[in-house]
Amino acid sequence: MRLLFLGDVLGRAGRDAVTRHLPGLVERWALDFVVVNGENAAAGFGITEAIAQDILDAGADCITTGNHVWDQREALVFIERQPRLLRPVNYPAGTPGRGVNLFIARNGARVLVMNAMGRVFMDPLDDPFAAVAAALEDCALGAEADAVVIDFHAETTSEKQAMAFFVDGRASLVVGTHTHTPTADHRILPEGTAFMTDVGMCGDYDSVIGMERDEPIGRFTRRIPSGRFQPAAGEATLCGVAVEISDATGLAEAVHPVRLGGTLSQSLPPFWP
Ligand code: FE2
Repeated sequence: MRLLFLGDVLGRAGRDAVTRHLPGLVERWALDFVVVNGENAAAGFGITEAIAQDILDAGADCITTGNHVWDQREALVFIERQPRLLRPVNYPAGTPGRGVNLFIARNGARVLVMNAMGRVFMDPLDDPFAAVAAALEDCALGAEADAVVIDFHAETTSEKQAMAFFVDGRASLVVGTHTHTPTADHRILPEGTAFMTDVGMCGDYDSVIGMERDEPIGRFTRRIPSGRFQPAAGEATLCGVAVEISDATGLAEAVHPVRLGGTLSQSLPPFWP
C-alpha cells in the first residue's frame, strides 16, 4: 500500500500548501492512506474543527497532533466527535479524545495510527514507550492491523531514534514531528520499519520554525518578548515522507522524503512516478 505522511501544518501558509497539493498527490500517486500532523494549523497554535475538516477534505485520512493540541480550546470538545483526530496517546487517563485508532484505507487495509509525545524538553506526560507498547499489544501488525503508523512528536533526535528502534519490526512507519525541520536520515531499519527522525513542517521556511523571524530573533538577543509569534506567510514547502508498505507483511519496502513548493530543495519519491 502507498502511504503519505505530511509534517506539522503551520498556519495559513501550511494549510494553503495542503489544499493546493494534496488532492493532486492522492490521485497522481494513487495513495491508499494519508496522515497529516495538524497541531500548528490554526495560526501556529492548535487546530479548530473547521480547519480539521478542511485538511480531511483535502485528502487526509487521519490528523495527528502533539503539545499544541489543546491551544484552541474547542479541540477539547470536538475531538470527541472526530475519530480521525488524534492527540498524544500518553496523556493521563481521562483526557478527551484518543491517541490511537484503527482505520480502513482505500485499498481495504486496516491501518493503525498512533500519536505519542516525547518527554525530553517537553511537558512530561506518561511514559510514551510503555503507551506505544501497550497499544501495539492491543492491535498488532500482522494480526489486527495491516499497517501501523506512529507519529512521535518529540524535541530530541535521541528520543525519536530510541522509539524507532524500540518498535522496529512492529510498525510500518515511525516518523518524528515537532522540530519543523526535515532530517536526511530516512531509511528502513533492520526489522523493516521505515523511519525519519523528523519529517519537517508544511510551512514557510523563510522563517524561524515557521514563525516570522523578528520576534524569535528578538527574544534570543534581548531576552524580552515584544510581541506575539506570527506565522510566516510566504509560500510553504509541503514536507512529508512517502512509504511503500508490503501488503503481505505490513513492513516498509521503500521510503523517500517529499518536499514540494516553497524554498526548500524539491524531492519526490522515485518509486511513484
Ligand atoms: Fe509541537
